[in-house]
Amino acid sequence: MTTEQNLAEIGVVGLAVMGSNLARNFAHKGHTVAVYNRSVEKTHRLMEEHGEEGNFIPSETIEDFVASLERPRRAIIMVKAGAATDAVINQLADAMEEGDIIIDGGNALYTDTIRREKEIAARGLHFVGAGISGGEEGALNGPAIMPGGPAKSYESLGPLLESIAAHVDGTPCVTHIGPDGAGHFVKMVHNGIEYADMQVIGEAYQLLRYAAGMEPVEIAGVFSEWNTGDLDSYLVEITAEVLRQVDEETGRPLIDVIVDAAGQKGTGRWTVKAALDLGIPVTGIGEAVFARALSGATSQREAARGQLPSGQLADFAEEHEDREAFIEDVRRALYASKLVAYAQGFDEIKAGSAEHDWGVDPRDLATIWRGGCIIRAKFLNRIREAYDTNPELESLLLDPYFKGELGDLMDSWRRVVVTATKLGLPVPVFASSLSYYDSLRAERLPAALIQGQRDFFGAHTYQRVDKEGTFHTLWSGDRTEVQE
Ligand code: 6PG
Repeated sequence: MTTEQNLAEIGVVGLAVMGSNLARNFAHKGHTVAVYNRSVEKTHRLMEEHGEEGNFIPSETIEDFVASLERPRRAIIMVKAGAATDAVINQLADAMEEGDIIIDGGNALYTDTIRREKEIAARGLHFVGAGISGGEEGALNGPAIMPGGPAKSYESLGPLLESIAAHVDGTPCVTHIGPDGAGHFVKMVHNGIEYADMQVIGEAYQLLRYAAGMEPVEIAGVFSEWNTGDLDSYLVEITAEVLRQVDEETGRPLIDVIVDAAGQKGTGRWTVKAALDLGIPVTGIGEAVFARALSGATSQREAARGQLPSGQLADFAEEHEDREAFIEDVRRALYASKLVAYAQGFDEIKAGSAEHDWGVDPRDLATIWRGGCIIRAKFLNRIREAYDTNPELESLLLDPYFKGELGDLMDSWRRVVVTATKLGLPVPVFASSLSYYDSLRAERLPAALIQGQRDFFGAHTYQRVDKEGTFHTLWSGDRTEVQE
């Protein structure tokens, strides 16, 4: 039983690792936290193992859980995204009253969040879809949080979230992103960028390992070194750790005993699907998602391994006497490709925000992604400066600072893609990002020819460069041009 004096400021439903770590984080920051899990064992375990860390109010029924919250009630759901989320939302909504707030902290699909927000708003409650990034460690010690939902809900929820979020230079890594699905949309694109970021790191590793012939532990040293400069980021840091790890059982580098088939839970794929619908070329993220799919196409890979002709391959040693120069080229190619992935991700967010009228401010994202989340990186400061200077940037790549950087990176980037091609090593994101970049800056694209072909076979018409209007050539007639 709880008394008026002993009500919880916030509640957490779903006490698997992420949920219990988040609950503990709230408790560590001095908040009284209500906790509930469908199977009581998890609640008991949390209380036994961590009950001493702060003020928890455990409940065994959802009704007791709701009753243990102060008003407006704030409950964060941390259950596996999907049908389970709807069930818990409904249970909570049944027990809650007008003005209370239900927060979904899972990786929900933003369109589900839009639907849920409508349903819950119709019942007089607030629904907040909040992307939470940083994994288990982040949940416990400071994640980046991307809450959507009604702005009003942030008035009462914001200070609580700010207290548990990561902080960079005194600024919390959380802010209200925008209405209904905005938070989950932005988290989805964050994950898409995460996929691309991981893949470009993978491609750099692949080149250092199989072109330059370096051992994992040496490559770990290179990544640690890179982590002190422009590439300073969580993902580069943990890459060095992974590459340094030795398998206890075999004594081999762990990387060599891990099966090379990457898993995915779906957020990268969602990012690409949404981008396709919005017509935004997120080529780096797309290639990263497909690279994971290809890595998992085990039987096809087995059938092709050693069977498909490679053509004449170059000899790395013959062409690269200066290994240090090659390593620096790879670093630059990684940096450039990563820039493209971020630029494309921000483009998608801009388009999604316009489509749904969310008013997402790119400066907010560059600010809150600096800490707590998986893609946290020093260069987000630069991205923030870029959008501070010009919030309407056509592309992040056109920011004067990044334009200057790209000028320095270009030659290396091109050399690396050429080397990889000559050696037969796959670099899908390095190469496609370079093609994207060259497409973006091209004087003319072959799209004119595509328009000509479309007009030929389907009378789809075209525009002319020299006059207004829509035109069609009478391809199967006398080939004169008519204006539509
Ligand atoms: C985060 C992560 C997290 C995600 C994992 C796994 O921001 O903390 O993005 O939300 O669940 O990264 O994603 P995949 O299984 O799809 O690689």
